[in-house]
Amino acid sequence: MILVTGGAGFIGSNFVRDWLALNDEPVINFDKLTYAGNLSNLASLEEDPRHIFVRGDICDTAHISRLLAEHRPRAIVHFAAESHVDRSIHSPGEFISTNVNGTFSLLEAARAYWSGLTGEAKDSFRFLHVSTDEVYGTLGPNDPPFTETTPYAPNSPYSASKAASDHLVRAYFHTYGMPVLTTNCSNNYGSFHFPEKLIPLIISNARAGKALPIYGDGMQVRDWLYVGDHCSAIRRVLEAGRLGEVYNVGGWNEMANLEVVHTLCDILDMLDPKASGSYREQITYVQDRPGHDRRYAIDARKIERELGWKPAETFASGIRKTVQWYLDNQAWVHDVQSGDYLKWVEKNYATRDTAQEQQ
Ligand code: NAD
Ligand code: DAU
Repeated sequence: MILVTGGAGFIGSNFVRDWLALNDEPVINFDKLTYAGNLSNLASLEEDPRHIFVRGDICDTAHISRLLAEHRPRAIVHFAAESHVDRSIHSPGEFISTNVNGTFSLLEAARAYWSGLTGEAKDSFRFLHVSTDEVYGTLGPNDPPFTETTPYAPNSPYSASKAASDHLVRAYFHTYGMPVLTTNCSNNYGSFHFPEKLIPLIISNARAGKALPIYGDGMQVRDWLYVGDHCSAIRRVLEAGRLGEVYNVGGWNEMANLEVVHTLCDILDMLDPKASGSYREQITYVQDRPGHDRRYAIDARKIERELGWKPAETFASGIRKTVQWYLDNQAWVHDVQSGDYLKWVEKNYATRDTAQEQQ
């Protein structure tokens, strides 16, 4: 079996569902269930004996050590993290605790467990660390995309905490010979994406008749990848990645935020039209994110060359499926928008100056 951390969150829950849809190898899903972790993301696995959910904190080395001793997984896939850049600006402490100290605790538990393995079990053990393209910092409009050798230059508390965790993982390979792999991926989108992030937030606000907040001028560029493609990349790296190596994962799909929001409005205008007018009329410019990275772009040639991985989904097909999923799953959106979430919305948007888009 494999152990997954953070498997109740957006990408982790997609990974666990896809994993069990594709093969019978059981998964221990270890998750603290923070505001971002949600057992309803795993509702389809409720009766599935191959899925063992354990609530716990990756900072708790003893708890993880007990689990490893009991279940003896052949691999750890590490998703658990605080993942939202804006929250890291308001409350960086939790990012250091989970992303840095938590990854360290997990590495320590994994090292002790792996050191005690012998023969084939030791040789085939893997620790796959799921990281982000944000560790590389920001690009100018004509800079080449990030490669695996681009120097680290994180700009937010979130990306700095992820960079620190990447360095720890790297050090455990070089110092202890631990069989680690790291993936650095671009922006994901798809089902079960928490509505604090741009794409699900826009869909949710649009339907609720609320403002669609664009930070700054909306010309920041991200490289969007469908979550199912990220999951297939992780499976491929776990299967065949070279030990100690880093693989950049991306969709070859750079888009400015405004273009993404316009696309969402246009799809909603088709699938769920308003009584009159377009959802674009709700677009509102708000004060920019402090330290906002201007452009991310991933050069994903290494994973394609070495492991034969390429994204399967185009943005056009993936984003349409995603909007349809949100329209079909209003109850999920309603449930995750709890009291805590509403407090966050108040904190993040109430103090920003706003301006309507000129139509
Ligand atoms: P998410 O915020 O949706 O989910 C994170 C999960 O981790 C939640 O289920 C949460 O309960 C759990 N968690 C948080 N702290 C924990 C702790 N101390 N112990 C145990 N569990 C804990 O995040 P996501 O968007 O699914 O991202 C997953 C991973 O992928 C993260 O490591 C993130 O840095 C990385 N990543 C995300 C993206 C993206 O676009 N979302 C892109 C590249 C990389
Ligand atoms: O690049 C990978 C990263 O992508 C992951 O490591 C992070 O975990 C993930 O959250 C994501 O980070 P971003 O900051 O790029 O994602 P977010 O959805 O928060 O914002 C996307 C862009 O949209 C960003 O330029 C900020 C902008 N934005 C965001 C929100 C929430 C807005 O303009 N308005 C908003 O209300």
